[in-house]
Amino acid sequence: MNAQALVRYNGVARTLHWVIAIGIIIDITLGLGHDAMKDMFPVMPTHKAIGITILALSLFRLLWRVIHSAPPLPATMAGWQIGLAHGLHWLFYFMMIAVPMSGWIMSSAGQYPLEWFGLFDIPKWPVTKDSPLAEAAHEAHELMGKLFIPLIILHVGAALYHHLLLKDDVARRML
Ligand code: HEM
Ligand code: HEM
Repeated sequence: MNAQALVRYNGVARTLHWVIAIGIIIDITLGLGHDAMKDMFPVMPTHKAIGITILALSLFRLLWRVIHSAPPLPATMAGWQIGLAHGLHWLFYFMMIAVPMSGWIMSSAGQYPLEWFGLFDIPKWPVTKDSPLAEAAHEAHELMGKLFIPLIILHVGAALYHHLLLKDDVARRML
């Protein structure tokens, strides 16, 4: 395919993709490493504030995606590959909302205040400590937070496979 025929994701979609991706990678690192890093800076308040930002941006991104369709994939891709790519993308959209939402619900039941980088308070959901909802949110947050890791590896692997081996335009659509 020649370079002129390349249709990229629009600028808003590309910017949101990379800002959210970086935010998620930072939040996974802070979430899993909070014990090791806790003497350096307020790890969990930062984790929570970044997570709430990811939630807000992801809700906007999902709306944007529903309104603007994705650029076409190469005609050479098999139906199962397209199905797998779309399935993983929609799973990502679900997790970009469900992971921070479960963290927010779980943390609403905790004793610590919720605030956005010390600038304003984030309201708490009416959830009580040890309630089934708070416990389910906690379980879901830990499980899905960790599930992000193999899925991101799969996603990055697929992007590199397209770019380096197949040498098609799939990855350049997001650059
Ligand atoms: C996309 C955003 C987020 C990601 C990827 C993420 C990921 C993670 C991960 C991987 C862990 C460690 C789980 C474990 O040790 O098993 C964690 C822990 C935690 N997260 Fe998040 N998180 C996000 C957003 C949030 C938000 C918005 C809040 C609250 C407002 C939050 C609150 C917490 C808390 C309190 C823990 C510690 C749980 C514990 O150790 O018992 N997270 N997060
Ligand atoms: C870390 C968390 C990440 C998440 C949650 C994520 C999520 C997504 C989603 C949902 C899409 C589909 C966009 C749409 O059709 O609306 C997408 C596309 C894409 N992502 Fe990521 N991404 C992440 C990281 C990365 C990284 C690190 C790379 C770098 C290799 C990457 C490369 C791409 C490419 C090339 C596309 C376009 C491919 C296509 O449309 O099939 N992503 N990503």
